[in-house]
Amino acid sequence: MSETVSDVRGLPKPEAYAEIERQARGVLEGITDEVAVMATLSCLLHHGFGHLWTGFYRAVAPQKLQVGPYQGSLGCLEIAFGRGVCGTSAQSKRTVVVPDVHAFEGHIACDARSRSEIVVPVLSVQSDVRAVLDIDSDRLGAFDEVDARALEALVRTFLR
Ligand code: SME
Repeated sequence: MSETVSDVRGLPKPEAYAEIERQARGVLEGITDEVAVMATLSCLLHHGFGHLWTGFYRAVAPQKLQVGPYQGSLGCLEIAFGRGVCGTSAQSKRTVVVPDVHAFEGHIACDARSRSEIVVPVLSVQSDVRAVLDIDSDRLGAFDEVDARALEALVRTFLR
């Protein structure tokens, strides 16, 4: 396999996400294992965009998220539903965009350099929360509705 992760910084976001999806389709063809898919998406998104932290927390027990495949500095190991940005997304089953993490009450700081964050729920066809995708940036306001819709589409495509 000769596919390498290409840097999508500098591209307009829609094109950047289209490129990430193209790469994911290439490398994930025939792959159904959830952990392999999560690891690959984390890698493509993390190195493509140059984020601070990119990865998944998996719903491993009722109301409990546990760290899954990720790229970046050490992540917290467990997060209860309702706690922090990840737990808020898991509980509400909605994407949460946080332009300034210091303004989000209850934000869990795993890396002091984190300034903004987006968390997207990964739902089963029955709408159960299977995981969340968490991305942290060292820039304020790094994420918006374009990221939200593109990341929701990405997890729907590869993790359902
Ligand atoms: N900031 C997250 C915790 C996970 S780490 O950032 C990797 C939160 O508030 O849920």
